[in-house]
Amino acid sequence: MEFIKVNTQYKKHIALVNLNRPKELNALNLQLMTELKNTLQALDEDVDVRVIILTGNEKAFAAGADIKQMAGKTAIDMLNVDQFSTWDQIKKTKKPLIAAVSGFALGGGCELAMTCDMIVASESAKFGQPEIKIGVMPGAGGTQRLTRAIGKAKAMELVLTGNFLSAEEALHYGLVNNVVPTEMYLEAAVELAEQIAQMSPVAAKLAKESVNRAFETHLDEGLHFERKNFYLTFASEDQTEGMKAFVEKRKPLFTGK
Ligand code: CAA
Repeated sequence: MEFIKVNTQYKKHIALVNLNRPKELNALNLQLMTELKNTLQALDEDVDVRVIILTGNEKAFAAGADIKQMAGKTAIDMLNVDQFSTWDQIKKTKKPLIAAVSGFALGGGCELAMTCDMIVASESAKFGQPEIKIGVMPGAGGTQRLTRAIGKAKAMELVLTGNFLSAEEALHYGLVNNVVPTEMYLEAAVELAEQIAQMSPVAAKLAKESVNRAFETHLDEGLHFERKNFYLTFASEDQTEGMKAFVEKRKPLFTGK
């Protein structure tokens, strides 16, 4: 792969995926997105991996879809290439996916971070949907996910002005989980991942699926979905082990079975 670096065993049960087009601020071209989709699919199937961290570098998580690649395209080219269909696959990742964001997370970069389950931000992170400044609008979920994450007023402002949200503002509006000094953002993401990696991977997948359902359905249907997934956890050895360990006053050892 040219634009993605993967370490499947960055820490125990934790994979690290790096967007790796630093000179272009990790602009998300078609090849990078295909490599990312394939990587996440492979990690989803890797039984040793329980949590995935997606990151860029200190200066940029990603500065958006590749404008130079899109510049000469017609509407029909865009429709035929349908570049955002790759993003639908990324959303289907079953394992917990943490974005560790420093620097620019703009346009498609912000949308990619929001496609992840949680965002750990460095204090230098900047979020925004500046597509309006180049005569277009968000196309990979920005108008929907940002609005759900931070509310209509602020989302509308960001989408219509192209202004950036600082890391502290992003924390205030609930877009990110935490903000840490820039030199610690990856470490902070790893700490979060390590906590989750100790849990039952079966329960983690089902719980992730259920939380995400809250954004896609009405309450009764969501509650029904949650209950079914809760009952399904009782098909796992991890449920037996987790409850037995509680009774025996010891730490559970989850295997993902
Ligand atoms: N696409 C292609 N190339 C990009 C890029 C992008 N989104 N963002 C940055 N780059 C390239 C620059 O062209 C430049 O390349 P050259 O050195 O070859 O000229 C290199 O990365 C470094 O960028 P700058 O010199 O501009 O760096 P800066 O620090 O002065 O500015 C920035 C940083 C404010 C992020 C600025 O690069 C910028 O505004 N980038 C575009 C942001 C943007 O509009 N993103 C939305 C894209 S559209 C989209 O994402 C649609 C969608 O919904 C998916």
